[in-house]
Amino acid sequence: MDATAQDKKNTKSAKLTVDGKDVALPVHDGSIGPSVMDIGKLYAQTGMFTYDPGFTSTGSCESKITYIDGDEGVLLYRGYPIEQLAEHGDFLETCYLLLYGELPNPTQKADFDFRVTRHTMVHEQMSRFFQGFRRDAHPMAVMCGSVGALAAFYHDSTDISDPLQRMIASIRMIAKMPTLAAMAYKYNVGQPFVYPKNDLDYATNFLRMCYAVPTEDYKPNPVLAKAMDRIFILHADHEQNASTSTVRLAGSSGANPFACIAAGIACLWGPAHGGANEAALKMLAEIGTVDRIPEFIKRAKDKNDSFRLMGFGHRVYKNYDPRAKLMQKTAHEVLKELGIKDDPLLDVAIELERIALHDEYFIEKKLYPNVDFYSGITLKAMGFPTSMFTVLFAVARTVGWIAQWNEMIEDPNQKIGRPRQLYTGAERRDYVQVDKRK
Ligand code: CMC
Repeated sequence: MDATAQDKKNTKSAKLTVDGKDVALPVHDGSIGPSVMDIGKLYAQTGMFTYDPGFTSTGSCESKITYIDGDEGVLLYRGYPIEQLAEHGDFLETCYLLLYGELPNPTQKADFDFRVTRHTMVHEQMSRFFQGFRRDAHPMAVMCGSVGALAAFYHDSTDISDPLQRMIASIRMIAKMPTLAAMAYKYNVGQPFVYPKNDLDYATNFLRMCYAVPTEDYKPNPVLAKAMDRIFILHADHEQNASTSTVRLAGSSGANPFACIAAGIACLWGPAHGGANEAALKMLAEIGTVDRIPEFIKRAKDKNDSFRLMGFGHRVYKNYDPRAKLMQKTAHEVLKELGIKDDPLLDVAIELERIALHDEYFIEKKLYPNVDFYSGITLKAMGFPTSMFTVLFAVARTVGWIAQWNEMIEDPNQKIGRPRQLYTGAERRDYVQVDKRK
């Protein structure tokens, strides 16, 4: 079997030879990035499926939202480089951009900020719903449950064939995630829930809901709020990553949007995905001091040891993750603002990064720090316990999930996601009564 691409200007196709029979596969070009071979009719033409565990060579959809060039370390939201958005924009305009495709003009921005802000409260009954969780539950478990439960509260925005209802559900999700995340935190530490305050910006409001207590006035810190906002921008979308693909797959059956986001949260929780920032910080703490780094580098390179350098490597980036550079800068800004001059974890992180970037193993496998390498240090300095790190990622990624979900529903080629398999189990055999089995 061989496949060869034949460039014929706009009518490209690829030839696949299966058992001596030629099959032409249409090739579609994107605006930038690799073209794709359309294998939609492959089974009908050859009786074969494709096999690609982990989808390393498989495009699952057409999308106009986010572009990554992993070799060059480029990340664009709707065409805009992440560096420009993180430096000059704010999270809510990034949300608008991801949802609507364009940056808002001043009127649109004011209107969008107003709409999100007016949806930040959650149904009062949610606070009673929280009482069902153990206080020591992992906040991601609480988020899976409570976001899924939103489906039981907002029945007026679940007709997914109605664009207006879809947009209301989207705004609700973006608005209520920080409130639920802060409630998960407050519940865990045993403090009263803090209601959102509508005259504050998104990030400041979130920090206040996490850190304000009824006994004291809360003084917002603009540097920390800016850092929080930037962290949200950096994590807002990342094309067809595992959790986004989960949301799309769940949504492809026409499922309730809040339930789809809960599915995304469940997927994000894993240490190979959003859980990596928590795992990276734990790893830095375990390493402890700079002199122990070589021991851990050795372990990471050992094929017989399951240890990996958390916060290193990425399925798509085979270059420095552009978000990691911005995250490193943010980490320094936050530590400076908080007067943390000597953070042993930061010392370990900087030295670990230096050593790994010069090590043949990491160079050869193109393993660079990813966004999670520095986000843990930053969030810890801001006062968040490690268990909250992935929750913050979920708050930020909600807009990406919901923008991709909307795009999927509007896609005329949308079908229920239903992959096939290579079956290697038992062939047909007959049932034997229990008393006759050996
Ligand atoms: N430390 C040591 N070796 C590594 C690492 C690492 N962090 N990551 C990959 N490798 C090696 C791996 O052992 C394999 O070696 P070999 O070819 O000899 O078998 C090779 O590099 C390729 O690894 P892979 O697992 O086939 O690559 P993948 O694309 O399936 O995995 C990854 C990507 C992110 C899951 C992986 O790099 C990893 O586990 N990193 C640590 C966890 C982490 O930081 N995850 C956050 C990702 S960024 C945020 C997000 O998207 O959620």
